Amino acid sequence: MTNSELLYSDPLAAAAAAAKEITERTGVASHDVALVMGSGWVSAVDALGTPAYECNAEDITGFLPPTVEGHSGKVRSYEIESNGKKLRALVFLGRTHLYEGKGVEPVVHSVRTAVKAGCKVVILTNACGGINKSYKVGQPVLIRDHISLTAVSPLSGATFVDLTDLYSKRIREIVKKEDSSLEEGVYVHWRGPTYETPAEILMMRTMGADLVGMSTVPEAIAAHALGAEVLGISLVTNAAAGVTGEKLNHEEVIAAGKAAADRMGALLKGVIPKLF
Ligand code: HPA
Repeated sequence: MTNSELLYSDPLAAAAAAAKEITERTGVASHDVALVMGSGWVSAVDALGTPAYECNAEDITGFLPPTVEGHSGKVRSYEIESNGKKLRALVFLGRTHLYEGKGVEPVVHSVRTAVKAGCKVVILTNACGGINKSYKVGQPVLIRDHISLTAVSPLSGATFVDLTDLYSKRIREIVKKEDSSLEEGVYVHWRGPTYETPAEILMMRTMGADLVGMSTVPEAIAAHALGAEVLGISLVTNAAAGVTGEKLNHEEVIAAGKAAADRMGALLKGVIPKLF
């Protein structure tokens, strides 16, 4: 079977196979926390120190090669020590998006792999447009809830999963203790790859949304359905379409991510040991 055949025929078996490979490669029997680093977030992970292990994601069952700038396609394992606690973090630099047109299975493969590798907490980071007019470029916002405008679910069959605490309140409270300036917002999942029109942004604001981006939601659902607690953090990399009248571009998104990397890295490093 090729790398991706199992992913589509039996996604949970592919995740279990990938987790076994990660355990063998890293020599770590069980990881505690997973981090998925979105556009512009990659250098924030430097705050976690030197990785104990790194490989190309595509060398592991079910992972597809990356296609987007700012998504480098690496899997890393870190040992994080704090207050006598030793934690293992599994970090995915980059992700697959729905707009790549490969279906939802590769989009959620990393988080499913992470949960199969032992992770009890999944931290999803992303770059987003700010719909809420009070948000500033470079501001991190905790995802409190989401609206799925793609309506694509990673689950099929009669699995009626409750999503009332999808973005764990327990974890949001811990993060806000770490940085009391953090606000919470509602994230809209937009398929892309086009950015939204100004009229669509107006619709989203009217629906109660604060943030818009092209990721995170399917991963949050897949991780939660497997029993993990989820934290979502969006970095506002631009005002959403029509808010300032400026045109949107991916370079600006990456640059805003790089500029905020140190603050985001320090936040993640400070928060992770407090989650366990
Ligand atoms: N819209 C959708 N996705 C995004 C945006 C945006 O404005 N900025 C970064 N990712």
